[in-house]
Amino acid sequence: MSKQNQHLAIFASGTGSNARQIVKYFEQHPSISVALIISNKASAPVLEMARQAGIDTLVIDRPFFYESEDILKKLAAYPVDLLVLAGFLWLIPGYLVQAYPNRIVNVHPALLPKYGGKGMYGMHVHRAVKAAGEAESGMTIHFVNEHYDEGAVIFQARCALSPKDDAEQIAAKVLALEHHHFAPVIEQVLAK
Ligand code: GAR
Repeated sequence: MSKQNQHLAIFASGTGSNARQIVKYFEQHPSISVALIISNKASAPVLEMARQAGIDTLVIDRPFFYESEDILKKLAAYPVDLLVLAGFLWLIPGYLVQAYPNRIVNVHPALLPKYGGKGMYGMHVHRAVKAAGEAESGMTIHFVNEHYDEGAVIFQARCALSPKDDAEQIAAKVLALEHHHFAPVIEQVLAK
């Protein structure tokens, strides 16, 4: 039997193309909805997308996120069942990891454990993959712990690379995989 009325909170710092895809995927879902989109950047395009979709937004700064635990009250108000990091670049503080054990997921644009860790995000990852002459790349969806990109892997998908691919072309291939897989994997995690 499917669980009733589960709520997601999406954390995103940037463009939010994954967040948009997730919102679209769950728009008509019978039991899962996106309740809240959180960003550390007031000007992030993802917040405008959220407003247009009628989804609550929250802008956070470092003192609020790292020196208080007030976000827990905001999340409990829905209540939020799963935290989804979709291009969110801040480290998740311990109190939040402990409050949501195996209930925080992140998408990373490489095949972890390769090309992960602090400073490895976005185009930095794809440039490193290109520089290493890799024949393939991909994406990883994993649970989040208190270290960058180290939580248990939930799902990976790979794509072949041509020596002619530049970092932008690698990024486009990987992003297409993220858009295809992230929302269904979130649905599976919530079903467990
Ligand atoms: C995505 O490719 C995601 O994997 C990456 O940021 C991009 C966000 O794109 N995340 C990281 O690098 C985290 N280490 P989007 O804003 O268009 O969804």
